[in-house]
Amino acid sequence: MEMREKVSAKFEEIFGEGAVMYASPGRINLIGEHTDYNGGFVFPGAVDKGIVAAIKLNGTDKVRAYAIDLDSHSEFGLNEEDKPAESWAHYIFGVCREMQKRGVKVGGFDTTFSGNVPLGAGMSSSAALESTFAFALNELFDGGIDKFELARVGQSTEHNYCGVKCGIMDQFASVFGKAGNLMRLDCRSMEFEYFPFNPQGYKLVLLDSVVKHELVGSPYNDRRESCERVAKVLGQEFLRGATMEQLDAVKDQISEEDYRRARYVIGEERRVLDVCEALEKGDYETVGARMFETHWGMSKDYEVSCEELDFLATVAEECGVTGSRIMGGGFGGCTINLVKDELYDAFIAEAKKRFCEKYGHEPKVYPVVISDGSRRLE
Ligand code: GLA
Repeated sequence: MEMREKVSAKFEEIFGEGAVMYASPGRINLIGEHTDYNGGFVFPGAVDKGIVAAIKLNGTDKVRAYAIDLDSHSEFGLNEEDKPAESWAHYIFGVCREMQKRGVKVGGFDTTFSGNVPLGAGMSSSAALESTFAFALNELFDGGIDKFELARVGQSTEHNYCGVKCGIMDQFASVFGKAGNLMRLDCRSMEFEYFPFNPQGYKLVLLDSVVKHELVGSPYNDRRESCERVAKVLGQEFLRGATMEQLDAVKDQISEEDYRRARYVIGEERRVLDVCEALEKGDYETVGARMFETHWGMSKDYEVSCEELDFLATVAEECGVTGSRIMGGGFGGCTINLVKDELYDAFIAEAKKRFCEKYGHEPKVYPVVISDGSRRLE
């Protein structure tokens, strides 16, 4: 059964008829990792995997939610002290609270939802959930909030109710996604452009290691704090715009670890711009070379990779894949791979075989289909 039918049938079974259906996607990111909270550039696109929710106002001041995939119910009120016990419900509760803080008169509603973004794969399942509810509640309660602010509702939900001090990339990509297009977003000015992405002769594919190292809380937030400390020493709001010369000049005022973190971020900013230029010329070899550089920067300097993902990137390199790197926040999840059409089948077979020999299971393979953002399903 399609996800949409499943969600709507479950809603009818539990709450009755009359729900409105909404959907929001997860995302990929071609390049520009851990740059968003540094005021830098990112290059994401929405994917054909996401969250679908059925929602109906219930005229009370309570939310009754059912997470189909977890077979879990939650009921909560809409005041700050009503935070539910179920951790999955924090995302919905947080969105309600953040909408209220922006002046929207959120009332009670009933909802069921389901998703097919692999959890912990670095494809932003949580942003898909937040964007679905932010978009829906804005319509259902006549919030009048623009799309950028809807993305910020999701980001603030992560900050204030889920403990992750994330940047804006995931929620932005989920809300603004457009089929066939990547988006280059400047996270300082919030200016962005759609970039039609249809590399002739290449495919984008994700290999999911199915390894999840704990991301929530400290390791991600620690990276962000390192960057903020260095920016402060440099007398800047963000690391964005800093040069290696400036960084070297303050080397003895910062820790060796913070130095390496900042070195990665400064390099990554350059790489995103290089990739944009290369894409305009159809130069996929440069795009791929930068992807590999990002991988090893994230692994050695930023230290957000893991053995399994380093292994996948190495296998890709050995198979002659054009570009491969860990995608998303890190600490497990996927690599994103830019592969020539004629190499594709052999690469996938080889990666599966070698990963399985070493780790006892195959990586999951997700061909990338760049898709639309948050929407109401008619
Ligand atoms: C997570 C965060 C994003 C971004 C990426 C890394 O997905 O939610 O804001 O920082 O990690 O690029």
